[in-house]
Amino acid sequence: MTSTMTGTVDPANAAQAQAWDGAEGEYWAAHAGAFERAVAGYDPPLFAAAAIRPGDHVLDVGCGTGATTREAARRAEPGSATGIDLSGAMIEVAQRAGGANVRYVQGDAQVHPFRTGEFDIVLSRTGAMFFGDPQAAFANLARATRPGGRAVLLVWQGLAHNPWLAEITHALAAGRDLPAPPEGAPGPFGLADPVRIRDLLGGAGYTRVEIADVREPLNFGPDPDTAHAFVAGLLRWMVAELDPSTRARALADLHAMLAAHHTSRGVELDSAAWLVTATTES
Ligand SMILES: C[S@@+](CC[C@H](N)C(=O)[O-])C[C@H]1O[C@@H](n2cnc3c(N)ncnc32)[C@H](O)[C@@H]1O
Repeated sequence: MTSTMTGTVDPANAAQAQAWDGAEGEYWAAHAGAFERAVAGYDPPLFAAAAIRPGDHVLDVGCGTGATTREAARRAEPGSATGIDLSGAMIEVAQRAGGANVRYVQGDAQVHPFRTGEFDIVLSRTGAMFFGDPQAAFANLARATRPGGRAVLLVWQGLAHNPWLAEITHALAAGRDLPAPPEGAPGPFGLADPVRIRDLLGGAGYTRVEIADVREPLNFGPDPDTAHAFVAGLLRWMVAELDPSTRARALADLHAMLAAHHTSRGVELDSAAWLVTATTES
């Protein structure tokens, strides 16, 4: 774990901080290009919804290696973009990419002491589903947004609408019954339920909460071998406890599944997200 965290991490986010400011974040940092390629299809709808204008100040929550922060900063010039993330390794990659009107904070967005009304827009690409206390987190983000400002969040829909994860998990299970990440708990499906999204954002003081269904294929790499290396590395813990021959079978099943999804654009699997927009009271 790196030790440049700004401010405290809420105890409710300790496990997330351990993962993201540890091995998980290091893998993301080392494979930033592959992760970028995977979700790139969501950027056009995300940035269209964000409608960033010159002079805006944007906060990117769970900014990771900063591609969306840089894009926000480019659109906001002469304004600025600030990225916040728990992962020291990912923030380091983001910082190396530079940018005059970009700044990064390694910290917990749930409790970070942003200045009140500091931002026009709070943006997040799959970084706002991990809060241990989402009510407190969204209240903190609403406080940091100027009156009449906006939140624009891309969050995953449930597993049933995300065959990419269902198919990968099924392949790596090698006959085991592997539990999926639960809906409504901190993790990829923490905001999968639109009723919960409305309750949380409404409770935090946002109005006009709108939730759009957006679907894009995730691109895991140009060919099955590259996609296999990327996914097997990311989810190595899923097969870590298998005996060598069962592990080999699981990895072969993964390769076969990815090869079955090889298209002229690369290895693509279907995904679905909610694009959430909400306004702070003016
Ligand atoms: C799925 S990754 C998405 C990263 C990036 N937004 C992207 O699209 O590539 C989720 C990110 O949220 C960050 N994160 C999770 N909980 C956080 C919190 N409480 N405060 C700040 N960042 C957090 C993680 O460290 C991780 O980098």
